[in-house]
Amino acid sequence: MTKAKLAVLVSGRGTNLVALARAIDEGRCAAEIVLVASDNPGAPALEFAASRGIPCAVVPFRKGVDRAEFSAALAREVAARAPDWVVMAGFMRVVTPEFVTPFEGRIVNIHPSLLPAFPGKDGVGDALAAGVRITGCTVHLVDLGVDSGPILAQAAVPVLPGDTRETLHARIQIREHELLPRVVDDLVRGRYRGATPIADVEGEGDALVSPRFAT
Ligand code: GAR
Repeated sequence: MTKAKLAVLVSGRGTNLVALARAIDEGRCAAEIVLVASDNPGAPALEFAASRGIPCAVVPFRKGVDRAEFSAALAREVAARAPDWVVMAGFMRVVTPEFVTPFEGRIVNIHPSLLPAFPGKDGVGDALAAGVRITGCTVHLVDLGVDSGPILAQAAVPVLPGDTRETLHARIQIREHELLPRVVDDLVRGRYRGATPIADVEGEGDALVSPRFAT
């Protein structure tokens, strides 16, 4: 099978990028990363990408910058690598139609809550503040709203007594690192039509994780 080309967008640490790269190395995700792009020149994720020889692009998001211009510049960098899919892996900027339209239906995002609950910048802190007992992470297709596109898969994580934002986020990230490469693999293998799995659903004996789809 030819490998799908991924452009991965990052803003920060890049642990999801690392998880994706590891899954690719281990043959669990039939893709190759052709670009890592960031709004943040200081993102540690870029160092990881550079250390792996993955082409990098930085489109800085400066205070007061026009969001449409930023989105168009980002779209140009991404389009230059002709990716099959765009993966937002900890990308913290809201993009406009200038970015979404050229890649519509081919952009996925990972978010640290069970959407539609707690969209936005602080999905973990907002869940804690609301006092929910279960939260988690969601992989969804990106549309023009904020964390509002069709949901592809979710994993649930209990909120434990004494949890802080850091401890809860750390447990959510364990699930993110499993879920994102799995969903990307399912997508590139054509196991979804839009947000709908096209094969029979195969249970995994784990009610907290959305199932993997039969091949
Ligand atoms: C992840 O937890 C991801 O879900 C979140 O940022 C973190 C990035 O971690 N994304 C959002 O909040 C998007 N709204 P990473 O840089 O270690 O992959």
